[in-house]
Amino acid sequence: MCGIFGYKGKEVKLSCLIEGLKRLEYRGYDSCGVVSYNLEKFLCQKNSGKIQKLKKDLGAKLNDKYSSALLHTRWATHGKPVKLNAHPHKSFKKNIYVVHNGIIENHLDLKKKLKKKGYKFKTDTDSEVVANLIASFYKNSIEKAVASAVKKLKGAFALGVLSESEPDKIVAVRHRSPLLIGVADKGFFLASDLPAVIPLAKEVIYLKEKQIAVLEENKIKLYSFEGKKLRVKKEKIEIKTEEAKKKGFKHFMLKEIYEQPKVLQDSLDIYLKDSKINFDQLKLTKKYLKGIKNIFITACGTAFHAAYVAKYFLERHTKIKVEVDTSSEFRYRDFNVSKGDLFIAISQSGETADTLAALKKAKQQKAKVLSICNVIGSSLVRESDSFIYTPAGPEIGVASTKAYTTQLICLYLFCLHLATIKNTVPKEERKKILKELSKIPFYQRKILKQNKKIAAIAKKFSKMGCFLFLGRGINFPSALEGALKLKEISYIPAEGYPAGEMKHGPIALIDEYRAVVCIAPKDHLYEKMASNLQEIKARKGKILAIINPADKEILPFADQAIYIPRLNYQELSPLLVAVALQLLAYSVARNLGAEIDQPRNLAKSVTVE
Ligand code: M6R
Repeated sequence: MCGIFGYKGKEVKLSCLIEGLKRLEYRGYDSCGVVSYNLEKFLCQKNSGKIQKLKKDLGAKLNDKYSSALLHTRWATHGKPVKLNAHPHKSFKKNIYVVHNGIIENHLDLKKKLKKKGYKFKTDTDSEVVANLIASFYKNSIEKAVASAVKKLKGAFALGVLSESEPDKIVAVRHRSPLLIGVADKGFFLASDLPAVIPLAKEVIYLKEKQIAVLEENKIKLYSFEGKKLRVKKEKIEIKTEEAKKKGFKHFMLKEIYEQPKVLQDSLDIYLKDSKINFDQLKLTKKYLKGIKNIFITACGTAFHAAYVAKYFLERHTKIKVEVDTSSEFRYRDFNVSKGDLFIAISQSGETADTLAALKKAKQQKAKVLSICNVIGSSLVRESDSFIYTPAGPEIGVASTKAYTTQLICLYLFCLHLATIKNTVPKEERKKILKELSKIPFYQRKILKQNKKIAAIAKKFSKMGCFLFLGRGINFPSALEGALKLKEISYIPAEGYPAGEMKHGPIALIDEYRAVVCIAPKDHLYEKMASNLQEIKARKGKILAIINPADKEILPFADQAIYIPRLNYQELSPLLVAVALQLLAYSVARNLGAEIDQPRNLAKSVTVE
């Protein structure tokens, strides 16, 4: 994972560069560092911990101006998250600094060879190997040394390189890890993703696979790994990002939970006009959509749960066979996707390495690729044939909340669009679903109003040793999502299960110290859920039921209940269940004093496999 930020130009304040790096902190936050140069003066400072600490330690130096700089925020892959392993890494000889995002698969082999040549290593990282490898090729040109070194590297890497002998150049490399250059009046900004440069640059150069860029004060040169000079293609940056602020909320996660009615309304405003679904911007023709044979959906984490909800809805209404899998499995399976199949990749960031790899594999097999994504200029969007934008806005909390429900609403709408084209949904039913969909923001507000009550329930449940989340049908993925939310921010073991699977093992866990969250809106599987609840109660499990108001059968068995509005179309209930379970996870984590927005060991965007 990790975030790379850099600069080459006349000069900018170090504080501006640190702010740029902060915009990449979602990619990792266990250590960070900077190397910068101006007028024969080098600064190199590294810290374990977050960027705020580095900023504090830099103090008055933040006002100094620099003409070359490389910065890095790390998510540890090789080597502990300590200061020593933080980037930039400096070579043993020749004073070459490297920042790296990715994994060098053959680093041990290279290290052995470099040691034989007399290179010494201070760290456990694969990135230090890159610095020394470049140094081993260095004669008098940093770009030539980098070009020779990258041919020896196996794995994924985006690199920023600065040599003390040629400090007026920054060399940037992209190979299976994202990297781009923002073009501004003040110079060039190097970054792992677009939002990091939006406040600074007007144009962007997306580095492509196996490209090397050499940045100087007023010019850029671009080469392929084979040494061929390439044309530099600048694109205008059309997007403006709203600065991420907490707006009075204690945490970004809570703010983002509360933003859901608004961003869902925004999604409806974009894709549902006067009761008509509008996906006119899709580059997939009606003829193609009508003829789709199979649908494959892939994603990771929370986005995978959105995919799972979509499977139930799509199969029911379009009669198309839908297969879902996590991207990390999908990419290594021998799946057969063919021309008439649609491959859907879902991702908040659009930079998740496994999802990108699965997408590439599907493309090789000639499937059409549709992505559902929250970042317009992301790698996923650029690799797809067509894409649906989820207007969630920047999601800063590592635990995904509003991105999930916007993915869901866009998927529901896309499914109905497809079903309309295929004529597989009766007009009246479609009307009923759309009417109910348009009321979802209103219903979500009703759940948000119960926050105090949910916080009180959370207090009672925070000491539980483990949580089981149970659901059936379209709310089985809701159970998976509820468990993921809770475990990632509170560190309490939590599992999501289809309730029908209880008797096949998980019921052995139940006793008075375990909590069971039962998702049981009044749908066609309600009676089955009611039986499951009784089985849990008989074994003294502590039950928290997610039910509709005026529930009579389940309530007597529940220790606590959270009410979600009863829908005329219960298949949409995951959009409401999600909000209740997000609030529950948030309050449990707060009771435990956990670090909610940046939980330990995680990063917002998983850009390595
Ligand atoms: O950016 P993406 O949607 O591709 O990210 C996928 C997962 O890494 C992400 O959903 C992760 O599981 C979240 N921490 C869940 O809250």
